[in-house]
Amino acid sequence: MKKTADTLQSTQVKLSSDTIELGIGQPDPDLLPHDDIKQAATHCINNNYSTSMLPYGHEEGCDHFRQELSQFLSRHYRQPVSLDRLFITNGNSQGLSLICTLFCHSGDTIFVEEPTYNLALKIFADHHLNVVSIPMDDNGIIIEELEEKAARFKPNFLYTIPSFHNPTGITLSQKRREQIIALSQAYNFLVVADEVYQLLHFGTPPPPPMADYLDSDTVLSLGTFSKILAPGLRLGWIQTGQYLMSKLVDAGVVHSGGGLNPFTSGFVRSILELDLLDPYLDKLKGIYGRRCRVICQTMSKNLPSTITFKEPEGGFFVWLKFPSDIDTKAILTKARQDKTGFKPGFLFSCNRNTTNYARLCFAYYGENQLETGIKRLAGSLLKP
Ligand SMILES: Cc1ncc(COP(=O)(O)O)c(C=O)c1O
Repeated sequence: MKKTADTLQSTQVKLSSDTIELGIGQPDPDLLPHDDIKQAATHCINNNYSTSMLPYGHEEGCDHFRQELSQFLSRHYRQPVSLDRLFITNGNSQGLSLICTLFCHSGDTIFVEEPTYNLALKIFADHHLNVVSIPMDDNGIIIEELEEKAARFKPNFLYTIPSFHNPTGITLSQKRREQIIALSQAYNFLVVADEVYQLLHFGTPPPPPMADYLDSDTVLSLGTFSKILAPGLRLGWIQTGQYLMSKLVDAGVVHSGGGLNPFTSGFVRSILELDLLDPYLDKLKGIYGRRCRVICQTMSKNLPSTITFKEPEGGFFVWLKFPSDIDTKAILTKARQDKTGFKPGFLFSCNRNTTNYARLCFAYYGENQLETGIKRLAGSLLKP
């Protein structure tokens, strides 16, 4: 599919079609699996899956689909994932909102990483939560800071993006994962792990997901098909322990409306049964890995050495650090005139810090456009 005005005007994106907007954090529309979806549609109709797709669904989600999902995750997480521990959602954004509804009241304190996913901050604001940030270094959230603030603020939960973090691309080390779980038990808070990029590694896989620690009874691990299949499906899952699972299943919204996405679950069940997802995921990892290399090489060649970054090993994003006296919002104004762009750093901080950073996405555009976009950005930086 061409990136036409139509695709560029979709949610989160309003642009002229000759702009290369490196701020867009979405899958490339040209890579979406149209043929797989067609095949899956025929398969689920021919197999009469409509009997489970059309009525109200089970609160936790369709059993057949959860069975397929548990096999898919067991394969990719390289450990058994039980279908009894999977609750189907409309994607991680909706999962997050549901968790806020069920486990927080207006005014409660939650922790996020500094920086964090900008649009999660909007979800937390919708729930009127008091958001406190915990700084990160190259290995993820800083444990001493987490402990000191946990004792002081008694948060309901910590929201973390453990692998190929949005926006920094950083992966939380194995040791820190264990330390976070120990602190969640000691200080009685939940760990809401947004594992959206867990399966999108370009080489060595990251440490196992936080779903590895379900026995702690503090973990809610959120996964989604948005970045490994198609965001329009609005389909994801929460993997959690028995007690927290019972709270999800007891939510008013699923009592009234049934399981969250029986219709789409039927399509994706077919995609899994037809073994279409594994090859598609392999293809995406190859393409995104090459795009990541191209954007990083082009930045190394064309941007001033005062702008630094760490090449990510997975996910969608690279995080640029500018000298501390630079506000990237001002640079964005110049970049827009040169028909390119990025997401300025302040958006990713609940305190509007990280003003001298920028998030660039390498997933949305092809290699040539990424090179052109970076060269345009380099040109904008030279302007007074
Ligand atoms: C960290 C993070 N969480 C959640 C989402 C949105 O996920 P979903 O489409 O499943 O709601 C994104 C998309 O960019 C993301 O980067």
